[in-house]
Amino acid sequence: RTIDTLGPLRSRTVIVRCDLNVPLSEGEITDDGRIRASLGTIAELREAGARIVLISHLGRPKGEPDDRYSLRPVAVRMAELLGAPVEFVGETVGSEAEAAVAALADGDVLLLENLRFNPGETSADDAERRAFAERIAALGDAFVSDGFGVVHRRQASVTDLAELLPSAGGRLVADELAVLRRLTDAPERPFSVVLGGSKVSDKLGVISHLIERVDTLVIGGGMLFTFLAAQGHDVASSLLESDQIDTVRDALQRAKERGVRIVLPTDIVVAERFAADAEHETVAADAIAASRFGASGIGLDIGPESARRFAEVIGASATVFWNGPMGVFEMEAFAAGTRTVARALTETDGFTVVGGGDSAAAVRALGFSDDQFGHISTGGGASLEFLEGKSLPGLEVLA
Ligand code: 3PG
Repeated sequence: RTIDTLGPLRSRTVIVRCDLNVPLSEGEITDDGRIRASLGTIAELREAGARIVLISHLGRPKGEPDDRYSLRPVAVRMAELLGAPVEFVGETVGSEAEAAVAALADGDVLLLENLRFNPGETSADDAERRAFAERIAALGDAFVSDGFGVVHRRQASVTDLAELLPSAGGRLVADELAVLRRLTDAPERPFSVVLGGSKVSDKLGVISHLIERVDTLVIGGGMLFTFLAAQGHDVASSLLESDQIDTVRDALQRAKERGVRIVLPTDIVVAERFAADAEHETVAADAIAASRFGASGIGLDIGPESARRFAEVIGASATVFWNGPMGVFEMEAFAAGTRTVARALTETDGFTVVGGGDSAAAVRALGFSDDQFGHISTGGGASLEFLEGKSLPGLEVLA
């Protein structure tokens, strides 16, 4: 259901669930992509004369107020981007929030404090979640679900709230779905998926599912070492999930049977320790333990030959989905792999989608801009679960 199904919105109080979970460093927003992505829906609601109450989580606080996760800096940045005031109150529910909502005029925007300062938001107990959602629902007349990055979560502000008020999906949710459906329904081929990031256990579901659908699966990032180990290589002190080796081996076997090409790195940048200024050298992927750092060597990036091969795969694809950095891009010495992959995505004529808060932050931190890619999704876990073919609770309630 889209916003127009909610009827006239003038003078009505509309609660909008956004995903304003932006990266912060010492209180400063280091990537405002998710704030920008939320502006379309807010502008549409302002034009319609609604009174807008924004709600969001930030980080993973433990169900109680914690200043490190306050949304206050987000209100400041959003006001700058919107070119209009964004009021902020330091609670999600309570008398201060009620007073601030009551004071709204048509077109005004208010941001409430981090939902996850309340234990009810993420509670596994249905009644506790529902009770919190009821308190939020009491603040408004209608609900717009626009936090695409959280639609895979069964949480009070995502699922319960949508059942308590007339509800619709916002513009961001609609746009994200249109792009992701292009990947799941009828991707132009060859279709390649490039996966990185640290944990293979987070991505096994999507890897299994994609093996049935893609032409090429490219593996980089910390999780590549579990793949190398599954092929019998010694990865020295690199990140390894030993309990996943058998599952990865099965996935490799299945890919082979289905004729899916799995591209793994052939060279690795191995460091003496996990530090930006660590000594490092590039070695063959099957010789990590033979680097000059011996058993203490840690692989922190794919090597230049691998990056070139990955870029070739990307360049030869008609559709590419990328999730997860290739190495520790936050450290300049180990950023080259991620940079080469990002550049290849900007240079190909194919349709490119970058999925995930981390990957999006990575490409921006490396100096690329959003318009160099086909689409940058605001959802990490959400876009992966969508590609995995799972039903997303936050979308189910809007159907
Ligand atoms: C994200 O960053 O992927 C979303 O904001 C969801 O956050 P969560 O994983 O803490 O639920």
